[in-house]
Amino acid sequence: MDSSIKRALFFDSGVGGLSIYKNVIEQNTDLKSFYLFDHEFFPYGSKDEEFLKQRVLALIQKSIENFGIDLVVIACNTASTTVLPTLRANINIPVVGVVPAIKPAASASKKKIIGLLATPGTISRPYTKELILKFAHDCEVRLLGTTELVYLAESKMHGMQVEVSDVKKVIQGFFDRGEAPDVIVMGCTHFPFLKKEIELAIGTEHEVKLIDSGEAIGKRVKTLLDDEQLYLINETKATDGMMNIYKEDNLKSYAFYTGVLQDYQRELATFKSFGFESLEKFVM
Ligand code: DGL
Repeated sequence: MDSSIKRALFFDSGVGGLSIYKNVIEQNTDLKSFYLFDHEFFPYGSKDEEFLKQRVLALIQKSIENFGIDLVVIACNTASTTVLPTLRANINIPVVGVVPAIKPAASASKKKIIGLLATPGTISRPYTKELILKFAHDCEVRLLGTTELVYLAESKMHGMQVEVSDVKKVIQGFFDRGEAPDVIVMGCTHFPFLKKEIELAIGTEHEVKLIDSGEAIGKRVKTLLDDEQLYLINETKATDGMMNIYKEDNLKSYAFYTGVLQDYQRELATFKSFGFESLEKFVM
């Protein structure tokens, strides 16, 4: 195995993390990628915090053991705002979390009115409240939690048509009262895939900038991978006696799911369109 090629794990409940994956590999072309989605418990936005903490930690630990991972990207805002501290306390490799881009949104907003479009879980987490207090204390922040858009994004990624009117019904909440926000944070990794529909749903009546965390995560991963310390971590890990069943393989990107897929071929086609070469069931 070429130890200079780093192995990254991307984790989400569904296909949303592919929006982050795309940004990361654009800026880190040499990566070997492992994408795991917890289909069995999709959607995460409606799940209990304690459950998510235990579930995500167990899946990430097992993935590190199975695949010999150097760096983890939690490509899910709902999981990141819930389990990041737990993961970092229990895992000895870098963990990059994807959390709502509140800071750039606050500085981009001229009106100082921003919207956060995320899952019901993400908008209610103390982690998110702290982000708002820290970086957007001078802004009015409107919170909109939706699971419906997560389902719509999944449908679109599986080749189905999404009606702008369905998106409009959800995001209308931002524009119902008072002055409209001039920046909306897409605080769920599924939503960049609906960017066009969200823009059409907003229409020309309001001038709104949509912001997500993808590019910043790509840069963050690059900084970490360029860091010499990662090589040291890798060597320590090699002596850990961990099982690494994918060591000898030559593929560049692998996808894994939990649970039972409704339509394996359809899912495979989605992952293939992002360059993944295999889609297998994840074994705990
Ligand atoms: N993609 C996820 C996020 O960024 C969660 C979607 C869900 O499972 O509810 O929050």
